[in-house]
Amino acid sequence: MTAKSVSPAVPIVITGLSHDFGGHRVLDNIHLRVPAGTTLALLGPSGCGKSTLLKLLAGLLQPAHGEIYFGSRRVTGRQVCLPPEARDIGMVFQDYALWPHMSVAQNIDFPLRMRHIPRTERVRRVGTALARVGLAEYGHRKPAELSGGQQQRVALARAIVAEPRILLFDEPLSNLDRDLRESLCREMADLLGQLGTTAVYVTHDRSEANRLARQIAHMAQGRIVDITTVETPWGK
Ligand SMILES: Nc1ncnc2c1ncn2[C@@H]1O[C@H](COP(=O)(O)OP(=O)(O)OP(=O)(O)O)[C@@H](O)[C@H]1O
Ligand SMILES: [Mg+2]
Repeated sequence: MTAKSVSPAVPIVITGLSHDFGGHRVLDNIHLRVPAGTTLALLGPSGCGKSTLLKLLAGLLQPAHGEIYFGSRRVTGRQVCLPPEARDIGMVFQDYALWPHMSVAQNIDFPLRMRHIPRTERVRRVGTALARVGLAEYGHRKPAELSGGQQQRVALARAIVAEPRILLFDEPLSNLDRDLRESLCREMADLLGQLGTTAVYVTHDRSEANRLARQIAHMAQGRIVDITTVETPWGK
């Protein structure tokens, strides 16, 4: 996987972020700063609020309190909650979330169509994204004709193809077997290092967090309980 992103990286700043589900507080007063071009891992047990925090970053949920900035742009706050498509983000989920009726190339093309990029440029970028994830020959296939690891590479290509300023990952490797997890983790770390995009990566897996992230935010019961710095993540 090669090549450099053209979008300038921006920091993520989260202040005083809280979220309730049905009157129950599931995120409580989160403060975080992710320096531009680095990856922060959110690590913690099931139900501690990792995905909820990621959804707030994506604009899929609106918080009870708090603000989120991407660079100087306030994307969430008082009277502001930009929808996901206005945030310039790419997302990768545990279950790949590919559209089964579209080919691999059409799946990857989708974010470019949403941004009204001209067709010639879209074809070029889809080709580059496919090559970056090692699937140059697979553009015509349907997702069901690929292995789990290949499907997750397609999801990764779709997340990066529009060169978003922020990448969000929710346990993208947890459906894969151990060997594949290890190799794809390494490739993702390389890719994140090359792209220089600011990223938040949710995981249960401490070794994955260590390999991918510059900082690890340890969560428990809706709070950040500790932040540690990783000296030598693979990709940076
Ligand atoms: N849509 C929802 N409605 C009500 N409660 C929810 C909803 N989504 C999540 N929750 C609750 O919010 C809390 C945090 O959930 P969240 O999905 O953020 O956890 P998580 O850390 O991502 O867990 P996992 O590692 O299992 O994915 C949990 O108690 C969960 O039951
Ligand atoms: Mg989750």
